Amino acid sequence: MHFTLIPITLALALPAFASPVETVEKRTAVDFLNPTDGGGSWLDMAAPPLGEPLNVVVSGLSSPELLDLSSGVFLKYAEAIGFDTECLGLHLGGPQSANLGDGRGYVNQTEELRESYGVDGSIGTCLETLEGGNHFRVFPQAGTNAIFLAVSQEQDLENSHNIVPNGYDVGRDALVAGAVGKTTYFDLLEFKTYTFETTAVNMTGLIAPGSNGVNHGIAQDGIVTLLTVTYST
Ligand SMILES: *[C@@H]1O[C@H](CO)[C@@H](O)[C@H](O)[C@H]1NC(C)=O
Ligand SMILES: *[C@@H]1O[C@H](CO)[C@@H](O)[C@H](O)[C@H]1NC(C)=O
Repeated sequence: MHFTLIPITLALALPAFASPVETVEKRTAVDFLNPTDGGGSWLDMAAPPLGEPLNVVVSGLSSPELLDLSSGVFLKYAEAIGFDTECLGLHLGGPQSANLGDGRGYVNQTEELRESYGVDGSIGTCLETLEGGNHFRVFPQAGTNAIFLAVSQEQDLENSHNIVPNGYDVGRDALVAGAVGKTTYFDLLEFKTYTFETTAVNMTGLIAPGSNGVNHGIAQDGIVTLLTVTYST
């Protein structure tokens, strides 16, 4: 009696436990979903109808803590690769929005981060605000948790922070060059070192190369770089 009942119970119980786990893994384990498949765009909305290219994507296969923007780990990552929050919390110009095809339509950027010139804290980004430099806007994709970035190299304040010639490609390549491989950020207050391992892959065929629909009429090469970031402490 016992010998027959036990195997039957197991056989019935196993599929019930196994299937929800598989479903969850399938849903989350993607780099990102192509915004255009869901009616979105690879250009954000900057000066309607013109937009700036979403030229870097942080893969949804990156560490979940990093992709959860409320955890603060993404900001440590930005600091590790040479960016920080804006100068003393000052913000110049309006937010841009993006439609990532995730069913939410156009959603404002969650934040804007600027090159920190190696100076810790948001003081370093004051130099960027005055002198120009690299910066990016952050747009998380619902469902995949991938983080889309609109990266560009700006002119100085005197030139109204316009994008430098070729500034989308230059900004993207500079950010990626500073991110690939191993980077670390030491948080003084937490007395904790954050370590990040980044791999990069260039993708083509997502944004058409050129300046059609692009803000400031500055052409870009149509490359979107996919970063996969692993985080550890
Ligand atoms: C986006 O930002 C603009 C400018 O600050 C604001 O007027 C608008 O309400 C924001 N949209 C949403 C959906 O938060
Ligand atoms: C991506 O493309 C840029 C521009 O052509 C190039 O400089 C960079 O090395 C490429 N990166 C990778 C990972 O292939």
